[in-house]
Amino acid sequence: MSWINARRRRPAAGYAALLLGLVVVALLYGSLTHQGGVTVASAATGAQQDVAAGKALFDTSCSSCHGLDAQGTSVAPSLIGAGAAAVDFQMSTGRMPARELGAENDRKPTTFTQQQIYDIAAYVASLGGGPAIPPESAVSSEGANTALGSELFSTNCAQCHGFAGAGGALTYGKSAPSLNASTPTQIYEAMLTGPEAMPVFGDGTITPAEKKDIIAYITATRSETNPGGFSLGRTGTTTEGLVGWAGGLTFLVLIAMWLTAKRRDHVQGESENSTHE
Ligand code: HEC
Ligand code: HEC
Repeated sequence: MSWINARRRRPAAGYAALLLGLVVVALLYGSLTHQGGVTVASAATGAQQDVAAGKALFDTSCSSCHGLDAQGTSVAPSLIGAGAAAVDFQMSTGRMPARELGAENDRKPTTFTQQQIYDIAAYVASLGGGPAIPPESAVSSEGANTALGSELFSTNCAQCHGFAGAGGALTYGKSAPSLNASTPTQIYEAMLTGPEAMPVFGDGTITPAEKKDIIAYITATRSETNPGGFSLGRTGTTTEGLVGWAGGLTFLVLIAMWLTAKRRDHVQGESENSTHE
């Protein structure tokens, strides 16, 4: 009878080792992916805004093209009604002030502080409303549905920006930029204001909740394409995690097999003894 008990104990010990190992691997995986997590700093929109300071900055940096009262000129459009969101988007992505007329306004580092940008935005908003800079709560990924965001991105954005948001050529010679450097606030503002060839996606077309989903999808795709650890193509942390799991599991299964095999030898010896009795 003793060999039956031994037989029962063996797999139990194997499972216990397996379970313990799984927990260890899970904890390791958790700490690894946690380190790889991306935290995105966003502009605090509750900041004090100084319209007079904004007007002064506008006069020196923007009025040569947009006119002294932002009414527009033959070379640049009126900014009356463009809104704070358009100014924040254009300036924080370095598109404005434009370097020269007729040049493609690409993303570049801005020479303005965020406070200066807020001031100019407040001045432009004071001239005629327009979309406001979205608050932090409107752009955070908290409670967002990335699966829905993926669908919305495919139907509304991918034809220009490509499926992974990597940018793409437009039929008429212009190109839609990569979204890899855009902050959540800038993504929201781009949808609200439709820079250049990009259409405006007002809240009637894409609701604020859907905008949140799209932002969450874009930023999630991005963190996956830049896993930070060893590269496994463009598959990112998920694959690394899986490889970790598979490796850990294989190791544990081997240990369990080794344990079982050892005991089996032992038990076979025992049962031979008992049949001889
Ligand atoms: C060298 C000329 C030039 C200067 C300087 C310039 N802009 Fe512009 N801006 C343009 C042109 C041309 C456009 C329209 C084409 C485009 O959107 O890129 C434009 C577009 C914009 C838009 C988008 C308008 C809309 O309806 O969405 C905003 C906002 C803007 N500018 C803000 C500014 C601000 C703020 C400054 C100063 C910090 C500035 N610009 C300086 C030429 C200029
Ligand atoms: C018709 C083509 C088109 C569609 C559709 C489109 N975009 Fe764009 N998008 C553009 C172009 C062109 C620009 C560059 C504008 C510029 O440089 O002034 C742009 C710029 C942007 C930027 C700024 C990138 C930066 O420099 O940080 C963001 C963010 C963005 N788009 C997001 C979106 C999202 C989200 C959608 C879908 C809801 C979308 N776009 C749909 C053409 C498009």
